[in-house]
Amino acid sequence: MDTAWPPRPLRWPGRPLTRGPAVLDRMTFDDVPAIVAAVDAEVLRWIAMPDPYTEADAVAYLMSQGTLSARGAGLTFAVRTEAGGPLVGSAGLHFRGGPGVAEIGYWVGPAARGRGLATASTRVLAEWAFATFGPRRIELLIEPGNAGSARVALAAGAAYEGVRRAGIVHWGRPRDAAVYAFLPADVGHRPPARYGW
Ligand SMILES: CC(C)(COP(=O)(O)OP(=O)(O)OC[C@H]1O[C@@H](n2cnc3c(N)ncnc32)[C@H](O)[C@@H]1OP(=O)(O)O)[C@@H](O)C(=O)NCCC(=O)NCCS
Repeated sequence: MDTAWPPRPLRWPGRPLTRGPAVLDRMTFDDVPAIVAAVDAEVLRWIAMPDPYTEADAVAYLMSQGTLSARGAGLTFAVRTEAGGPLVGSAGLHFRGGPGVAEIGYWVGPAARGRGLATASTRVLAEWAFATFGPRRIELLIEPGNAGSARVALAAGAAYEGVRRAGIVHWGRPRDAAVYAFLPADVGHRPPARYGW
């Protein structure tokens, strides 16, 4: 287990992460049109992404990923329904909450919603993250009005902990965040007797 936090450079899994209907692997530049098609008003309502969201935005985002993984900021996966299939969503693992804390965020495009993709993606990402990086907790920070995302958090097995006031920043504006979190035992992992960081 790493003693530095966040672990860096962050390493991708050797093969796609799969659970139920979801297949998570790396985004590529071939995914750019699918990303742009999937980022609708509902995604932009809850996630601070450029609005309107263009192919240039998606390209810039993909180009930033190498730096983000190298400095331990996070890894953002494509969500697909089959290996090599089109991107239908995104699930990211981020390290910005202090020692031992990871965070998961996600969106699924309108055409693929309601099939359990966000739930499966969140769960498999949490399992892989605990096994690979050993965080003490993985948080999902959800605006209290985002009923769909709250449902995903609970369905994936995270526990509701309360509201962190001004817990997130959306385009420079503080917003409250309902905090949902996984501890290792929530996904069947035994935490180490003592952490290294
Ligand atoms: C929220 C979002 C990720 C859900 O994705 P999804 O793949 O459709 O979610 P799932 O199919 O895994 O749904 C899981 C559960 O949530 C419920 N759910 C999903 N969207 C919902 C909504 N808008 N309102 C109420 N419940 C909803 C599903 O019915 C399902 O319930 P169940 O466990 O009782 O069957 C998707 O709507 C989205 O991308 N929204 C915009 C971006 C966003 O809010 N991201 C999260 C920011 S914190």
